[in-house]
Amino acid sequence: MTSLIFMKKFRIFSGSANHALAKKVAQNLKMDLGKVEIVRFADGECRVRLEEEVEGKTVFVLQSLCPPVDENLVELCLLADTLKRNGAQKLIAVVPYLGYARQDKVNRKGECLSTQVVARIIESVGFEKLIAVDVHSEKALSFFKIPTENLLPDQVLAEAVSSDKKNCLAVSPDEGALKRVRQIAKILGTTVVSIDKERDLLTGKLKIKGVKGDASGQNLIIFDDMITSGGTLIIAADFLARQKAAGVLACATHGLLVKDAPLALQKSEIKKVIVTDTVPVPKEKQFKKLEIVTVAPLIARAIENSV
Ligand code: R5P
Repeated sequence: MTSLIFMKKFRIFSGSANHALAKKVAQNLKMDLGKVEIVRFADGECRVRLEEEVEGKTVFVLQSLCPPVDENLVELCLLADTLKRNGAQKLIAVVPYLGYARQDKVNRKGECLSTQVVARIIESVGFEKLIAVDVHSEKALSFFKIPTENLLPDQVLAEAVSSDKKNCLAVSPDEGALKRVRQIAKILGTTVVSIDKERDLLTGKLKIKGVKGDASGQNLIIFDDMITSGGTLIIAADFLARQKAAGVLACATHGLLVKDAPLALQKSEIKKVIVTDTVPVPKEKQFKKLEIVTVAPLIARAIENSV
């Protein structure tokens, strides 16, 4: 059990991107969230004001860089600034969803290297460590000069599909996901079917070029790091259905679910969509096939181990 002395040594503050998750993390650690006022002026500018003493303390700031991504990033920076100004001894950024991580390379001449810029910003405001969840790529993490910890919710997702895992195969929807899916397949005690997906960088259009493994007659669970438009999962599920799969489920760590993704996923071949709560899914984005599992205990453990 977390002792009182231990609890007093550190505090957790939440930005406004994912307050519900921050609250759950704090509950897991049997403590309250740090008191802070975050307001927006009429023109959209953010102002942050601390409402408690943090001098000499290690402070964790939990903020997902989900939409509105840029606003949430600035908020994270302003929180860091005020905590530093008010004497916090050590700042640790807890970023359950690290936005901008997909822009980890210059794909076409003239493009910026956004992931590196975001890493520089986070470091420059005084964070000494980053704890993130299922960061898009190892490359993205390599831009940080401060220590990083990438928490993988493999066990959480494996438990979420435990009633469906009998005779199932794990599906990697693209090359990038393969390493992760192999790890999850190991936990599930199954093997991997791997899809060869291609995205046109100019139009964003997706194409499936082929599949490694036999999907026919199988129960399949697709694992991906994030659902943005839902396009990757939908096109993969369509393809697998045409290969006569018995049923398709989908799991992803980050449920960004932009625009009409919820409707498209509800209408798709996918029977159930499981995401974690690294990104909040407001009521209006929730749909019948959606199930949300929490990463709060995973983050709470990482915080405890970082003090
Ligand atoms: C791609 O590299 C990512 O891992 C995801 O597969 C992709 O970002 C998901 O986006 P969408 O849902 O728009 O296909």
